[in-house]
Amino acid sequence: GTGRTAKLKIFRGDASGGEEVEYEIPLVEGMVILDAVLYIQAHQANDLAVRWNCKAAHCGSCSAEINGIPRLMCKTRVEEFEGREIHVGPMRAFPVIKDLVSDVSWNYEVSSKITPFTTSQKAPFTMYEEDVERLYEPKKCIECFMCQDVCHVLRTHHKHPEFAGPRFFVRNQWLEMHPMDEADRLGDLKEKNGLGYCNITKCCTEVCPVGIKITDNSIIPLKERVADEYYDPARWLMRKIQGR
Ligand code: SF4
Ligand code: F3S
Ligand code: FES
Repeated sequence: GTGRTAKLKIFRGDASGGEEVEYEIPLVEGMVILDAVLYIQAHQANDLAVRWNCKAAHCGSCSAEINGIPRLMCKTRVEEFEGREIHVGPMRAFPVIKDLVSDVSWNYEVSSKITPFTTSQKAPFTMYEEDVERLYEPKKCIECFMCQDVCHVLRTHHKHPEFAGPRFFVRNQWLEMHPMDEADRLGDLKEKNGLGYCNITKCCTEVCPVGIKITDNSIIPLKERVADEYYDPARWLMRKIQGR
């Protein structure tokens, strides 16, 4: 131990409401917020609800809002807040179940409606190295849903119910740029996934724990393709002629 202590204010409550409760814990050098929360759960509040799995920034389960910003609790050091108050709460863009646990199941519903990888070719596929590299970044997503939590379009309580959110623009972009995939998702992106509601604030990119450049590498390329496809007069005419 360091002989020092740290104080954390943790949201205790559920969908009907709640309040922050302050806990004081012995500060161990290098401890992360998840260590502190688990210490509190073990020694001071056995009924404190928290979701976690890997403790290594891989599973995406321990997302929470720390001082109002979505962070992985297992990747955020307590010492980072030296001299400042530490507030820990659940992700607010989703319904709170209890304490630090929010219900992220809406995201899986959105995911299930995206046209899956579709190909008529038989594996093994031949792929070029530059394609493989481009496909690598979106695949790093650990589905922590922190980009969803921070995006104002979802945060202002799902103002546009059809807005899929940054995580699913990343998924769409991966599928759309996959050289073997033959499905077309541009129509869905425009009509059903609400791509147009994103006004490129880039907050999603800032919070991504695996460093996916969500806005620059997924959202903007998709927006450009939708614009080419739907707002280019020559293409518009082609679609009319072909009756699409
Ligand atoms: Fe989390 Fe990044 Fe995936 Fe969004 S894109 S869910 S922030 S890992
Ligand atoms: Fe939201 Fe990211 Fe766009 S935060 S508005 S999806 S750039
Ligand atoms: Fe798995 Fe934090 S516990 S990402």
